[in-house]
Amino acid sequence: MAVTRTFSIIKPDATRRNLTGAVTKMLEDGGLRVVASKRIQMRKEQAEGFYGVHKERPFFNDLVAFMTSGPVVVQVLEGEDAVARNREIMGATNPADAAEGTIRKTFAESIEANSAHGSDSDENAKIEIDFFFTADEIVG
Ligand code: CMP
Repeated sequence: MAVTRTFSIIKPDATRRNLTGAVTKMLEDGGLRVVASKRIQMRKEQAEGFYGVHKERPFFNDLVAFMTSGPVVVQVLEGEDAVARNREIMGATNPADAAEGTIRKTFAESIEANSAHGSDSDENAKIEIDFFFTADEIVG
């Protein structure tokens, strides 16, 4: 398996509860390395653009409102098969379905306030990394 990169967001429900370190520790303990990280306040247009694939979904407006409701921490993570590894560490989107010991089972408040986002493919990881980071902000 190759060393690859994925994109992660620590969501507003987690930053609000001061869980940035706790979430990052689970990612690091799971074998991923944080090679870029910044805390930002997402603007509405940014959240709409980032989640553009979900534009037609009934939860889109609520999702954009939530993701702009407080600071988030955007990160680039590197490791063996990083996309799949990160998704294992995060657990299922709905915390009710997430396995014990995962970020979402441990911290998520709901399917919307689910503490973390992670890319779902290598192709989307590249798109999502490029959406928030320039090459010189990523130091492996
Ligand atoms: P995320 O990985 O950030 O990608 C889209 C987000 O939409 C997802 O995590 C959830 O937090 C959020 N969401 C809210 N409602 C739903 C829903 N009914 N089904 C899927 N995702 C939802």
